[in-house]
Amino acid sequence: MHQETMWPANKRDLYTLLEKQLIALVEDCPPVSALSNAAALLWESLADINWVGFYLLKDGMLYLGPFQGKTACTLIPLGRGVCGTAAAERTIQLVPDVHQFPGHIACDSASNSEIVLPLIKHGSLLGVMDIDSPQLARFDKVDAQGLNTLCDILTENIDWTNGLL
Ligand code: SME
Repeated sequence: MHQETMWPANKRDLYTLLEKQLIALVEDCPPVSALSNAAALLWESLADINWVGFYLLKDGMLYLGPFQGKTACTLIPLGRGVCGTAAAERTIQLVPDVHQFPGHIACDSASNSEIVLPLIKHGSLLGVMDIDSPQLARFDKVDAQGLNTLCDILTENIDWTNGLL
């Protein structure tokens, strides 16, 4: 399965390639399988990140889902931290310096910037995609746009109706 890939240096080109790869990877997969491969794809292709993964909504809380990186907190209440804020407000949180974000939850002290995007299908919140970087201001609007399209692929192409597996 493993192959060495030359990832495009241009961000827009990279996200265009990732869109195609992600569609092929998640097609006909249950959520846990699809999100595991999505996390692995982003881990391999995005430069300067130290964590990428998903928190999934259950009973009004965000639970740790498939990810790559160091062990992370398992449970985040809505409204808490960057993830909880993205989920509660259903907005993308682009945080250039996590140390300036009130209530930021530090899972890895190496993290300095973060982006969190809500996963929303037909108006229902499914969870969030979360990416951390040791670099300040690692993520910009091009990342937000590219990752948002990848989140749309995840909400549209995964079968969310039959449980997580
Ligand atoms: N920093 C996040 C917590 C999750 S970890 O980054 C993996 C937050 O403030 O919600």
